[in-house]
Amino acid sequence: MNYNDEKNIFVLTHPLIQHKISMLRDKKTGTNEFRKLVEEIAVLEGYEALSDLPLEEVEVETPIEKCRTPFIAGRKLAVVPVLRAGLGMVPGILALTPTAKVGHIGLYRDEVTHKPVEYYCKLPKPISERTIIVLDPMLATGGSAADAISQVKAHGGVKIKFMCIIAAPEGIKVLHEAHPDVQIYIGHVDRQLNKDAYICPGLGDAGDRIFGTK
Ligand code: PRP
Ligand code: URA
Repeated sequence: MNYNDEKNIFVLTHPLIQHKISMLRDKKTGTNEFRKLVEEIAVLEGYEALSDLPLEEVEVETPIEKCRTPFIAGRKLAVVPVLRAGLGMVPGILALTPTAKVGHIGLYRDEVTHKPVEYYCKLPKPISERTIIVLDPMLATGGSAADAISQVKAHGGVKIKFMCIIAAPEGIKVLHEAHPDVQIYIGHVDRQLNKDAYICPGLGDAGDRIFGTK
């Protein structure tokens, strides 16, 4: 993993993540395979993003003897996908942390302004006591991610991570400047945005590819 601790930006370079992202990019990859790949990438990214969870020693009795052994301590988790495309990453994170609560934030990008339009927000309460992982496969202009995280904070969220699969440099800058306290986990940093604010080379419209819409 390459990362810059000061900036809270973590680019996940694991070969399995890179391989699966390349498969996602291929326009010949169909909906079923696309969904599976998004889920598998979320598992691999989640494994990295949760590597700082604190542990505490708890006593357990094995068939041989009693011992003190580490369990995850402290804050509980909340997984918050940004609708729609973030939903595709939820099963991957829940495979790692099955007891996490799940919130939802509904946002879509206005086609002309490329600004996020909010339409739904439901988060587990009290959110302040949880480590929150906001999920969205695409970080393009950064508007949707920055807005989603503002909503989480407005509801009391404090310890927040953002996880995406592909990011544009423009979006990383916007998100980090808006929320420098948030740890950003990225599968791959692409070249740039095009005039329609799509990531190049990217993978197209993530929501459409996950849900088979156009
Ligand atoms: C996509 C994606 C992000 C957003 C990223 O969602 O899933 O939420 O665009 O773009 P940004 O960084 O420029 O804000 P979209 O608006 O297409 O909605 P959908 O998932 O409902 O299709
Ligand atoms: N949203 C997507 O789904 N893809 C992009 O390239 C940009 C925003």
